[in-house]
Amino acid sequence: MKPKVYITYKIPEGPLKTLNEHCEVYINPEERPLTKQELCTELKGMDGVICMLSDNIDKEVIDYLKGVKIFANYAVGYNNIDFNYAADMGIAVTNTPGVLTNATADLAWALLFSVARCIVDSDRYTREGKFKGWAPTLYLGQDITGKTLGVIGAGRIGSNFARKAKGFDMKILYHNRKPNAEFEKETGAIYVDKETLLKEADFISVHAPLTAETKHMISYNEFRLMRKNAIIINTARGPIIDEKALVEALKNKQIWGAGLDVYENEPSIEPELFDLENVVLAPHIGSATTETREKMVEIAVANILAAFRGEVPPNCVNTEYRNNINI
Ligand code: GLV
Ligand code: GLV
Repeated sequence: MKPKVYITYKIPEGPLKTLNEHCEVYINPEERPLTKQELCTELKGMDGVICMLSDNIDKEVIDYLKGVKIFANYAVGYNNIDFNYAADMGIAVTNTPGVLTNATADLAWALLFSVARCIVDSDRYTREGKFKGWAPTLYLGQDITGKTLGVIGAGRIGSNFARKAKGFDMKILYHNRKPNAEFEKETGAIYVDKETLLKEADFISVHAPLTAETKHMISYNEFRLMRKNAIIINTARGPIIDEKALVEALKNKQIWGAGLDVYENEPSIEPELFDLENVVLAPHIGSATTETREKMVEIAVANILAAFRGEVPPNCVNTEYRNNINI
């Protein structure tokens, strides 16, 4: 009998061909995330699951779904899954690293440009028919070239983002759990403590994973340290920035602006953010390019098939499982 795989949201189907050959594949027909109740009932009896960031795979769900061998998260982050508990239960959790690095770093740049040059607001203005000819102070933004960039998190995405600053003659500061020599070599960045980065950077981009240490690492005190012209970009995880503190900082013009792709309590967003002009809001689309989303399917499928062959899947992130598995 072929193993059964459930995919919790429609994903690009081209790269699912191999999966269809080897498995019985079920796909959530709705254009919305499954509720917790549905996760339990729909996924019961499955051998593998391709799941999304919008699925909260907690202890209860894991306990309910005995028999699942692998949760292949269709994302690089996996904070939506209790991956340690899954490891205790001998279940692999995998992610899709590498293939979305460029797309996510590109989006961070897109947000930075949008905020620094008031693109979204000025688009709205133009569409509303308000453009009456060239004017000397219409939508004055700020230069990007020659400024100081502050990168928080020196993983693959942070490093890719920083490398892309080369064409803009920027000074690059970075902060990370620990210095990263490779990152410095690739980007010419200088390692500084968080406080120095916040004080000196014109533009700050967050590329850290969400952990107990990074939660609210940017809050009221941190915004107070930033420059008046500072722009903060977050394409990593919402809770790294205290969203209420960000609203205060933007309202009081303590900083210049913000570009967000992620939110503290997704899909909810602090309502006051909607009323502010100096913020650009994207709906968690860091990896959303056709090419990237297809490659993410290929990786998820490769991990599922490896698990069914009894191998440690190539992108297994719950290391206990990796260490305990007997193959
Ligand atoms: C997106 O946020 C991801 O983790 O892939
Ligand atoms: C994510 O892939 C990172 O390491 O930054």
